Amino acid sequence: MDYLRIQGPTKLQGSVVISGAKNAALPLITLTLLAHNKVTLTNVPEVADIKTLLKLLRNLGATSSLENHVLHLDTSTVNHTMANYDIVKTMRASILVLGPLLARFGHCEVSLPGGCAIGQRPIDLHLKALEQMGAQITIHAGYVHALAPEGLKGAHIIFDKITVTGTANIVMAAALAHGKTILVNCAKEPEVVQLCEILRDSGIDITGIGTSELSIIGTGGKTIDMVDFEIIPDRIEAGTYLCAGAITNSSITLEHVRPDHLDAVTGKLEQMGCTFDITDTTITIHPAPQLKHIDIITQEYPAFPTDMQAQFLALATLANGTSIIEERLFENRFMHVSELQRLGADIKLNGHTAAVMGGTPLFGADVMATDLRASSALVLAAMAAEGTTNVHRIYHLDRGYENLEQKLQALGAKIERLKE
Ligand code: UD1
Repeated sequence: MDYLRIQGPTKLQGSVVISGAKNAALPLITLTLLAHNKVTLTNVPEVADIKTLLKLLRNLGATSSLENHVLHLDTSTVNHTMANYDIVKTMRASILVLGPLLARFGHCEVSLPGGCAIGQRPIDLHLKALEQMGAQITIHAGYVHALAPEGLKGAHIIFDKITVTGTANIVMAAALAHGKTILVNCAKEPEVVQLCEILRDSGIDITGIGTSELSIIGTGGKTIDMVDFEIIPDRIEAGTYLCAGAITNSSITLEHVRPDHLDAVTGKLEQMGCTFDITDTTITIHPAPQLKHIDIITQEYPAFPTDMQAQFLALATLANGTSIIEERLFENRFMHVSELQRLGADIKLNGHTAAVMGGTPLFGADVMATDLRASSALVLAAMAAEGTTNVHRIYHLDRGYENLEQKLQALGAKIERLKE
């Protein structure tokens, strides 16, 4: 197993190119299941989660090639409809094949994703919506068996909670359903917006894009002629590098970003005392003379993202005063707290809220990554800590950060990948 060795404290300089968004690429790859043509996706991040999903699609019968961030995908040859436990258990987002497979084939069998490190993460809202569209759903031996022999029917669906992959799954199902589907209380994340835009550009009548209410007229089972497209930049990777600048007291430039997708993140960094030079595709962060404490509540887009909570928690350990960070989306997303405490951070946890008493010095130690974003928070803290930190179990990082250590090395960090 690989681990990262980081020498701190470190200073960064220069620029870093942000990769394509993993969370946009995942649903967009499953969207190709609705297409009858070969599709080319560009700016695809070459991270473990994408490779896992491509493996799942190959198991279903698709062919794909991914090189230099260009993905050629042909799902016209798909002839299986079962998403196996072996793959789904390693990546919850595999559930994104459920809507498209059911819509195209009228049946599918998808393993239940099970629990994950950051909480229970049920899929009840995906299933309920598909049932409203006429699907018969049974759960047997750990698999969701979904059946809609006459095809899915348009429906009026109100999501009880805002769900990102739930919205994506049902939008894809609705695109091939009979008639009109109205979805209320949808996720408005940029990744969902891009999915809807690609469907619109591929000829689907879809309105309300970017709002919480979507209206989709399905093709009645006919597969679509899908356009080629470029994946949007990864706003969470970008936010993580902004935190890297802030935590190392360094000025760095992010290239190939969508600054408008990062408003909640740059807004919080501004409150902490950082300043920015922003163009259409770049952000330069200038660090705060002294970081100020911050209050954060994680919520759905456009509010502050849960996927940036761990990184800001690491940052708050260096701020003046006490920061209050409340996690509203996932019940168990504070496992980085005990690891940050190993580095010397002073943090008190009370249920969904962390109080971070900033300003205690951090010292290098051995720490364990527990989930994707928690891992990056440990790397950030390690760059600010005095001495050597070894971050173990970095396969979590490899799921979603492309070439993290190469990108940080190029910025001047002392970071290397070693084998246990
Ligand atoms: C997606 C992102 C993930 C991010 C999260 C929240 C991808 C691949 N992953 O995850 O990085 O952290 O959004 O921004 O895009 N819920 C239910 N029932 C359901 C579905 C969800 O109760 O059927 C709950 C969840 O437990 C959670 C909340 O709704 O409390 C939001 O979850 P959701 O938006 O679905 O997260 P994901 O789509 O899994």
